[in-house]
Amino acid sequence: MRTLVRTLTPAVALLLLTGCTDGGTGVHGKPGSAGVRDPLFRGLGNGGYDVQHYALTLAYDPDTNHLKGTAEITARATQDLSAFNLDLHGLKVDGATVDGKEAAANRAGDELTLRPHRDIDKGKTFRTVVSYSGEPQTIIDEDEEKSKEGWLETEGGALAVGEPSGSMAWFPSNNHPSDKATYDITVTVPEGPLRVISNGELMKKVTTGGRTTYAWKSRQPMASYLAMLAIGEYRPTESRTSSGVPVLTVVDPAVGTKHAQLIAQVPEIVEWGELNFGPYPFSSAGVIVVPNDDLGYALETQTKPVIPVKELPDSLVHEIAHQWFGNSVTPRSWKDMWLNEGFAVYAEWIWHEDFDATPAKQSFEAAFADDKNWAFPPADPPSAAKVSDDPVYYRGAMVLHKIRQAVGEKPFFEIVKGWATEHRHSNASTADFTAYVEKKSGKDLTELWDTWLYGKDKPDTP
Ligand code: TRP
Ligand code: ZN
Repeated sequence: MRTLVRTLTPAVALLLLTGCTDGGTGVHGKPGSAGVRDPLFRGLGNGGYDVQHYALTLAYDPDTNHLKGTAEITARATQDLSAFNLDLHGLKVDGATVDGKEAAANRAGDELTLRPHRDIDKGKTFRTVVSYSGEPQTIIDEDEEKSKEGWLETEGGALAVGEPSGSMAWFPSNNHPSDKATYDITVTVPEGPLRVISNGELMKKVTTGGRTTYAWKSRQPMASYLAMLAIGEYRPTESRTSSGVPVLTVVDPAVGTKHAQLIAQVPEIVEWGELNFGPYPFSSAGVIVVPNDDLGYALETQTKPVIPVKELPDSLVHEIAHQWFGNSVTPRSWKDMWLNEGFAVYAEWIWHEDFDATPAKQSFEAAFADDKNWAFPPADPPSAAKVSDDPVYYRGAMVLHKIRQAVGEKPFFEIVKGWATEHRHSNASTADFTAYVEKKSGKDLTELWDTWLYGKDKPDTP
């Protein structure tokens, strides 16, 4: 209300009276929508703008779980905007500006609505700064395991992971995979044994006045669900792939040294990925291995997946494969999740074929025989609660094996590499994928899609 009064110039009042909302005065915007119509997660993401860059500057006190931050968000308006939303869960908004001028902030559930001082023209790049503070919260997912995400307090530190929605527990964002952006994540913690680990590369580490600041940079676009922050007494080890990609592996001391040899194989797994999927898509690689109590599942957080020790060794290949499939080529909507998980499981099958003398055909037949994989079609999860259920993973991988059988060995691997290359650093849908495979192979694969991708029923034979 206060903002409305402030912006009611005589010209505006006249426009309102005449019902004309586009008089070339710059006062013609509409609010951006409070969601992007994701078929599974209605509230996630926001309409009306496209984020280019997030600069997060955070300070964390592990003794009190208190987080204080500013998020500087550079975005381009995709419509004339009178107001727009960000997704934010919990925390207190202490203030917000758009292009340096105070913006009115309103909260309703996980929606933060900002009404800038004046409308933003379509096509214009604008800068929003949100200051916030409080105790970030853990989010419980709708899946059967009631998976925890968002902000997780750990022994002496914290771990932030965000698939599908948890990044809004620690910063405001356009929280949907369709809007990828680059990130600078700068975090200050008390001086001492704690380290801060995040996506991308460490740009600086400085200690002053009893506090240490770590600045991490993600140079390639990242979906918000892949943003990660880990604060703990981690042991880092640097290495490099033969192709020159810097690798940082990070291990929680509670994990011990039992898996050191396996973790040291990360550069070779990345090289194997390059052979099969094409050039590694990011300017660094790595992994964080954490105690089982910290996280119940592995997650492919960009450049450095988080892996609880019980998920080793299998998830190492799976999460590294996600760097191509999911992180570089990102689903357009949550319904397209099989493009992530199907490829990551199929990567495991190829790995077993290459190193464990288990042909992919054998993995395929085992997945085919398992009834829990047939609950629903991989390209059509029936609800948000089922987006990470077995059919998405194993029927997804079966689709890829059927393509391999249909097009033959060499064309199949050209398709896999071509798909990763063609959609590098962007978004793609299931329809984009089927069209790409048909174009590349020159084959009409309608029946394959109908049966394996969209079909409800299990075929009589594999
Ligand atoms: N993507 C994770 C993996 O590598 C699993 C996962 C965790 C997930 N949370 C999710 C998948 C939410 C889909 C949605 O297997
Ligand atoms: Zn996965």
